[in-house]
Amino acid sequence: MKILVTGTAGFIGSHLAHRLLDRGDEVIGVDNVNDYYDVNLKEARLQRLVGKAGFTEVREDVADRTAMEALFSEHKPERVVHLAAQAGVRYSIENPHAYVDANLVGFMNILEGCRHNKVKHLVYASSSSVYGANETMPFSVHDNVDHPLSLYAASKKANELMAHTYSHLYNLPTTGLRFFTVYGPWGRPDMALFIFTKKILAGEPIDVFNHGHHRRDFTYIDDIVEGVIRTLDHVAEPNDQWSGATPDPGTSKAPYRLYNIGSNNPVELSRFIEIIEERVGKKAEKKLLPLQPGDVPATYANVDDLIDDVGYKPATPVEEGIARFVDWYRDFYNV
Ligand SMILES: NC(=O)c1ccc[n+]([C@@H]2O[C@H](COP(=O)([O-])OP(=O)(O)OC[C@H]3O[C@@H](n4cnc5c(N)ncnc54)[C@H](O)[C@@H]3O)[C@@H](O)[C@H]2O)c1
Repeated sequence: MKILVTGTAGFIGSHLAHRLLDRGDEVIGVDNVNDYYDVNLKEARLQRLVGKAGFTEVREDVADRTAMEALFSEHKPERVVHLAAQAGVRYSIENPHAYVDANLVGFMNILEGCRHNKVKHLVYASSSSVYGANETMPFSVHDNVDHPLSLYAASKKANELMAHTYSHLYNLPTTGLRFFTVYGPWGRPDMALFIFTKKILAGEPIDVFNHGHHRRDFTYIDDIVEGVIRTLDHVAEPNDQWSGATPDPGTSKAPYRLYNIGSNNPVELSRFIEIIEERVGKKAEKKLLPLQPGDVPATYANVDDLIDDVGYKPATPVEEGIARFVDWYRDFYNV
């Protein structure tokens, strides 16, 4: 299949592109390689993709309407996996406009591209952050999510709403994936595992928010990629049982679906740090701090729908995933 993947210089997009190419798909990879974090890391990820059979690199901004129109009409992808976005909860407090450009205008351009070029399935990244102020655990796609706590979360929820209108109006099958704190080799430098590993190795103190008490459903990158591929292959269909009298937020009369992809096994931050310390072989100097604005104290994914529809549930133990990350980090940065 010819698949357009956006965000291919990114953490998840680069891993996904490898898996798709390895199984014989053709991948058109779009990324603007922006400097939100270390551009060298993004270039290094891309370097491993260019030259692989079936990969075409396109360096464009998804918020550039003309460029996206040209891209879709030139390449005519059969399916689209849209991962390019301005990520990060904390950054959205300081830089709200970045989220409107990449996540709202960019998403709009992808939807229009899919509509006008008869794309057969659009799979896009949402986030566990859409659960916001919800406290019923584990978080279910069938719960209402109208109380986001950051503009990042609001932009992801907005994507789900925009996708629904296109599924309804143009019969475009869309699947939104709510990823839960993804970690692993080639991971993001703005995320806890990367920052902690780097600082512990350098003998620098680490900032531990919420005094290490928050819980995260940390999900290993290979498990995320497996979930993306399985849902990509399972084109969203209408739910015939759906009723407007008791509207289920996770499905629709239109070909619209949402899934959580999380490990379904939350780990407390302080335990997460212990595992890093064990693998690095060094104790962390911890600066205990309060919960940050926009952050939620816990995440925990209900993955029943993923199991029912695509027969899959993430399974990598956090000890194994962290070990693989630390080994990659030491090798890549030569420490
Ligand atoms: N990593 C996680 O824990 C996590 C959790 C929930 C949701 N997500 C979502 O998954 C997706 C991928 O996340 P990631 O961790 O790989 O992030 P990432 O930042 O590593 O990857 C995103 C890529 O998109 C590119 N990009 C950003 N804005 C762009 C634009 N306007 N035009 C073109 N390219 C652009 C970036 O250069 C980057 O390479 C994002 O949508 C993110 O919001 C990630």
